[in-house]
Amino acid sequence: MIRRLYVENFKVFDRYEFKFPDGLIAIVGPNGSGKTSILEAIEFALFKSVSRKEKTVTKLQRLIKFGKERGRVELDFVAPANGKTYRVVRTLHPGRTTAELYLLEEGQTRASRGAAEGHPKRTAVASGAEKVTREVQQLLGMDRAAFSALIYVRQGEINRLSRQSPKNRRDTLYAMMGLRAYDSVDSKIRSERRSVEREIAGIRETRERLEDILRRLPTHDEIDRALGLLDTLAGQTTLDLTPLRAVVEKVFESVQEVEAELRSDKVQGRLSALEEDRGILSTLEEIVRHIPEVAEYQLRPTIREHARTLFCGIFGDRYGDLRVDDNYNATLYDLRGNEVPLTDASGGEDVCVNFSLRVAVNLALQHHNLTRAPPDLLVLDEPGAGLDSERRRWLPEAIASLREVRQVLIVTHMQELEEAAQYVIRLQPKGKGRQPEVTVIEQGGSTADSGQSTGTNT
Ligand SMILES: Nc1ncnc2c1ncn2[C@@H]1O[C@H](COP(=O)(O)OP(=O)(O)OP(=O)(O)O)[C@@H](O)[C@H]1O
Ligand SMILES: [Mg+2]
Repeated sequence: MIRRLYVENFKVFDRYEFKFPDGLIAIVGPNGSGKTSILEAIEFALFKSVSRKEKTVTKLQRLIKFGKERGRVELDFVAPANGKTYRVVRTLHPGRTTAELYLLEEGQTRASRGAAEGHPKRTAVASGAEKVTREVQQLLGMDRAAFSALIYVRQGEINRLSRQSPKNRRDTLYAMMGLRAYDSVDSKIRSERRSVEREIAGIRETRERLEDILRRLPTHDEIDRALGLLDTLAGQTTLDLTPLRAVVEKVFESVQEVEAELRSDKVQGRLSALEEDRGILSTLEEIVRHIPEVAEYQLRPTIREHARTLFCGIFGDRYGDLRVDDNYNATLYDLRGNEVPLTDASGGEDVCVNFSLRVAVNLALQHHNLTRAPPDLLVLDEPGAGLDSERRRWLPEAIASLREVRQVLIVTHMQELEEAAQYVIRLQPKGKGRQPEVTVIEQGGSTADSGQSTGTNT
């Protein structure tokens, strides 16, 4: 969940502090008033990067307000991992950014605290753009890819899922479910198995070398015979055979040493232990590789059910069913039972299927979480784009089914959605600089956090 966003010289914004309570928050205003920019500021604060139209913005300095030298973004968010509130601060300069991460003390970011809020007691956690990003990812339990897939549905990207190939779609959905977390476990086990295999190969080489030496040395029989011969000779000659005997005995000692080394723990013992390790690691690798499939398999029925309910809620007058196959290909069935693959469906229908599927995954994860705390946040930028007036009436209801998600942030031009929200942030561009005037309206009353308009445009 996010609690507070402060922007300074960020795109159209001069200086502004936003508060975000729980519940449904609508961000409204005319084209170019800065709605998406608010979401971009959040994304930038968390991950030091912004994507637009499925591309990462490469020149971050373009986020600095025209004519200004530096920009600044501060975001207070509650980490799902531990329930604590953190503040990430990033500054934008031409060609570089800086970052700090702080832990805030309990209650410091509640709304309506007035002036003291600018200087809350805080403990530094990390410093430096990359370090802060890594730490934030840890706290969120997800990286930017998972965040984009699960939390933040960008403007115009709502139907991205249906445009992906089945493999990429599966990947995106796995990322949404947090199942990519097992990839790193898998690669760790694999590298461990490789190092065991390297050691096994090394020991085998040593063994071969010792066996080779042993082949060149005389056998026990040959040594026995040589010693016997020396004994016989000793009775027949006055020659001193002691040095010769010493040499044969030395050779015998060498043979025994090599044999002992071959049987030793260093070779035989270690080899058996390593071979056992390798067996265990391969089994483990096999298991870990299948965890995502098993987990996803268990989630799938819930996802399908949520998606079907949501979709039929919106399009129930035309369609009787939505079926999602194992590759998350969606097929619609009209009221007469005719099959309509998504490729044949209309643009608005496509948007709705995608909306339903994304929300279904989010909802399924609220209850059946596999690898991390529930997302608790959903950000939708213009989810109703492409829907006719009939569907638009349904959308608030579909969004209302998101009650299980603690905080839903929606950018919208739809009156219906604005009315359904408990908290409205309205942007109205003013003057040539188009600096937005911000009005905050609390309606419906069920949100607890803020009792008054918290806009403090300076
Ligand atoms: N560096 C900048 N400084 C000032 N203004 C900028 C800068 N970069 C972009 N803009 C302006 O910011 C606006 C983009 O705002 P944003 O995308 O947030 O609009 P929006 O409210 O989401 O509009 P829409 O309803 O059309 O999606 C544009 O009008 C653009 O010209
Ligand atoms: Mg926009």
